Amino acid sequence: MSSQDKLTIFDTTLRDGEQSPGASMTRDEKVRIARALERMRVDVIEAGFPIASPGDFESVKAVARAVSNSTVCGLARALDKDIDRAGEALKPATSSRIHTFIATSPIHMKMKLRMEPEQVIEQAVHAVKRARQYTDNVEFSPEDAGRSELDFLCRVLEAVIDAGATTVNIPDTVGYNLPHQFGELIRQLIERVPNSDKAVFSVHCHNDLGLAVGNSLSAVLNGARQVECTINGLGERAGNAALEEVVMSVQTRQDIFPCKTDLDTTQIMTCSRLVSGITGFAVQPNKAIVGANAFAHESGIHQDGVLKSRETYEIMRAQDVGWAANRIVLGKHSGRNAFRTRLKDLDIEFESEEALNEAFSRFKDLADKKHEIFDEDLQALVTDSGLESGNEWLKLVSLRVCSETGETPNASVTLWLNGEEKQAECSGSGPVDAAFKAIEVMVNSGTELELYSVRAITSGTDSQGEVTVRLKLDGRIVNGQGADTDIVIASAKAYINAVNKIIQPDARAHPQLGDV
Ligand code: KIV
Ligand code: ZN
Repeated sequence: MSSQDKLTIFDTTLRDGEQSPGASMTRDEKVRIARALERMRVDVIEAGFPIASPGDFESVKAVARAVSNSTVCGLARALDKDIDRAGEALKPATSSRIHTFIATSPIHMKMKLRMEPEQVIEQAVHAVKRARQYTDNVEFSPEDAGRSELDFLCRVLEAVIDAGATTVNIPDTVGYNLPHQFGELIRQLIERVPNSDKAVFSVHCHNDLGLAVGNSLSAVLNGARQVECTINGLGERAGNAALEEVVMSVQTRQDIFPCKTDLDTTQIMTCSRLVSGITGFAVQPNKAIVGANAFAHESGIHQDGVLKSRETYEIMRAQDVGWAANRIVLGKHSGRNAFRTRLKDLDIEFESEEALNEAFSRFKDLADKKHEIFDEDLQALVTDSGLESGNEWLKLVSLRVCSETGETPNASVTLWLNGEEKQAECSGSGPVDAAFKAIEVMVNSGTELELYSVRAITSGTDSQGEVTVRLKLDGRIVNGQGADTDIVIASAKAYINAVNKIIQPDARAHPQLGDV
């Protein structure tokens, strides 16, 4: 192990992150996130699970087409049909990886797979060989490795490395391990698997006990050279190891870690905001690295110390993770060129002049209401502008609310609904409730409202409110977003965005595969 070792960062926000209920993303949203990850110089982007649905297949293909500086990976069970589908989806990639997995813990083999251990080894080897027919970059994961028997795990890993796996990933699928134990597992595996030098050892930790990052770092200290993680720690149940925490730990404690990542950490905040905006999973204020308070010093003693010498209380610089990005970029006098150029810097491009003009006119409307326009406002404006699909079934035409002390709030909403203009009026417990009821009268979506949240995109009372609405229909969950300086309008937009997504299921990726 040399101090120059590289730690590969494998981001699975678009696959495991998307498996958080309600975090499913459209193909275009996935491409936007993938581009941001590529700009951050993430090594491997797991773009999805191609067999899971036609939407997921198309998303992996679109990411494979859009990204050229990161390796694009597709997940596949250890089954021919999964691997073939992943191989097909990854065809356009400049650099591709197939990630195949099968469970190896006694409980998973017996209760879920109903297979004997010998059959599991045979299927794993077969899967790796088949994946190698599509790419020479193949990753194998023994699912639930954290609860598998060590001797059996060693046999499986030796066999798959022999079969051509170039990365072997050790998942703590249920987040059961403790850091010292997980680190020891990695050390033993590297020591005992005879051909361990022929593959990169990777880890994939879930956060059920809040130990995903701790376990991942312990594994790195014991020889793992790839960490699988997600932006903001998004992921199944309590989530996966947070990319920003892993990367900043390794960077900040170079006195301890014998390896380095290639990441441009100044892109962390952009990625964090993009993922939380698209998925509607807000970042808690006290979240490490990307939470609003992560670099805020409240107590007088701390403030005094930081003013005298930053290092008294700060172990990292806010700007190293991109916090300085919150600065005015445009205003009401900015022209179309400045607008286009700034969006280009944010990697947002328009398919046509018409789309640019439409966005620019929305920008001018916003600049009239809000004098200082930040990058966050521009990102919200684009997410909000319907550039994503352009074929909405439902659009907001206008909204009028009446809210007065002592009176029942009332909303009148006009919608563009399937080619026709419609109007309805309702009262409710508040203006947002009234507006949602009026929309439902016209749309009759039959959805249940699972979550409603509002956040100020920037500071100040003229800030845009970004609203997330989570709707559920027949077990499917989607998030909708809307932004506006008027939060009732933002709320109506978010509701409409969610209805459009849930009513047009073909456009959606469905990450969950019942029989995995
Ligand atoms: O948690 C897990 O075991 C997984 C595998 C597919 C790697 O996500
Ligand atoms: Zn996982």
